[in-house]
Amino acid sequence: MAHAFSHIPRSALPELLRRAPKAELHIHIEGSLEPERIFALAHRNGLTLPYASVDALRAAYAFTDLQSFLDIYYAGASVLLTEQDFFDMAWDYFLRAAADHVVHAELFFDPQTHTERGVPIAHVIQGLHRACVQAQAQLGIDASLILCFLRHLSEDAAFEVLEQALPWRHLFIGVGLDSSERGHPPEKFARVFARCAEQGLRCVAHAGEEGPPAYITSALDVLKVQRIDHGVRCTDDPALVQRLAQERMPLTVCPLSNVKLCVFKTLAEHNLPQLLEAGLCVTVNSDDPAYFGGYLNDNLLQLVDALPQLGPQQAWQLLANSFEASFVAPEQKAAWRAELDALFDAAARDAAAGLQA
Ligand code: ADE
Ligand code: ZN
Repeated sequence: MAHAFSHIPRSALPELLRRAPKAELHIHIEGSLEPERIFALAHRNGLTLPYASVDALRAAYAFTDLQSFLDIYYAGASVLLTEQDFFDMAWDYFLRAAADHVVHAELFFDPQTHTERGVPIAHVIQGLHRACVQAQAQLGIDASLILCFLRHLSEDAAFEVLEQALPWRHLFIGVGLDSSERGHPPEKFARVFARCAEQGLRCVAHAGEEGPPAYITSALDVLKVQRIDHGVRCTDDPALVQRLAQERMPLTVCPLSNVKLCVFKTLAEHNLPQLLEAGLCVTVNSDDPAYFGGYLNDNLLQLVDALPQLGPQQAWQLLANSFEASFVAPEQKAAWRAELDALFDAAARDAAAGLQA
């Protein structure tokens, strides 16, 4: 069935986007720690932060590139110690996700950030998992966990954290690769990703955020990933863009993140419309919403506001892509797609009725 929504008026778009069901596939749960929560956890755990106040911490969120952000992000995450801390962090996120009508979320977590400080991996995984269970029960949000390896550390360190995590293999669905991209190509993690695939884990990787298109190619060919996180630098290589379109390889794009980390100067200069036009399975996500100035609906609304090429048709496509790219059963994808389509169909009917009146 063809879906034609281009005659829905632009003015109806913000409300439609807010109300539509959507999946979030690229959110680092440690990146959802708001400054208020960081201070509350520091207080609870008897830790002193190198910032005098919530405002002073927030004022430090002026980033020039990925590394300048990561330094502050890891410092923020250092207040997390107990199972309850991890639960509270994730629950804060789920409350915001519910307000944005997120019906499915795949949460990245960075265990090495915590195990390196002596936090048992059981506290990390069990706290996050408990929040996922409660999100389903109380908010109707379907959620799962993806364990990320820190690429600035060694492959041996990745193997070590994987071994520590395997007793909880049933509590996470996949693995990812994040942290400092430049100088740390996907090839560095070839063996550990092969081991993860043997375990039946889904594989994704950050690639082409700041790094070159060659990192996207090696994430595909060497790590055999099923999604690329970011991937926006693929446009430096037209043959790669064609390949990504042909394979319907999803890109989890994070517009506000890209502007905050100076990948694009402004949202108006973002290449997302170009990627969609080329037929790529592009999705919109928040990455580290507490640091980048917005959650999922903020990303969607600010994006369509800044880019006139993105109308109702493209908005629907982005949300349909979020379900297509998710790691859930086909029947579940179809059910969410039906809900999404019903909402847009109703808006299209309202638009048609308005035109006739
Ligand atoms: N860790 C958290 N956010 C990240 C990002 N945008 N890129 C790489 N690693 C990250
Ligand atoms: Zn990310």
